[in-house]
Amino acid sequence: MNFDKIFKNNEKWVAEKLSVDPDYFKNLSKGQQPEYLYIGCSDSRVTAEDLMGANPGEVFIHRNIANMVISIDLNMMSVLNYAVRHLKVKHIIVCGHYECGGVKAAMTPADMGILNPWLRNIRDVYRLHQAELDGIEDSSKRYNRLIELNVQEQCVNLIKTAAVQEAYKERGLSVQGWVFDIHTGKIIDLNIDFAGILKGIMKIYDLSK
Ligand code: CO
Repeated sequence: MNFDKIFKNNEKWVAEKLSVDPDYFKNLSKGQQPEYLYIGCSDSRVTAEDLMGANPGEVFIHRNIANMVISIDLNMMSVLNYAVRHLKVKHIIVCGHYECGGVKAAMTPADMGILNPWLRNIRDVYRLHQAELDGIEDSSKRYNRLIELNVQEQCVNLIKTAAVQEAYKERGLSVQGWVFDIHTGKIIDLNIDFAGILKGIMKIYDLSK
């Protein structure tokens, strides 16, 4: 795909939208009220809107390597605070995916330069769940499980933030953990026990007072 093709695709897309609704872009420019914040991996194969069938205006999106929620990542925290406190999204989705290169790299004993501090957070997830993971003999199953546990821990990281705790109390904001199965195209709901996790960690992480 070259740039020529990209701009031609864009023209075609504009024409298609206008043929259905001549005011499409006029309305789009008025503002956004997305109900969802989606946090996913930057992987080019895992496009947020496509896999959810979402239209422009419906999902606020943040993507980084291995869908991480790191409390000192100013980018992530800005997106989160804006989405929760200003846009007042109703749901936050953390979506990982099988065959995630970021998680694979974190399972590899190697110096990866500037990626080291980022991947360290995934290595910490492994350490936290080492008993379970080391008990899985099949290495591809272990890899898949770390991908799932990483999503779970990023959901926990969301719950540790003041913005999420406050919005949960005030208006029942929910946090969802998903894995996109790249082999089938399907979204798997990990059924994260949001209320249970919250209850379990609030003694330590309560910021709502
Ligand atoms: Co990935």
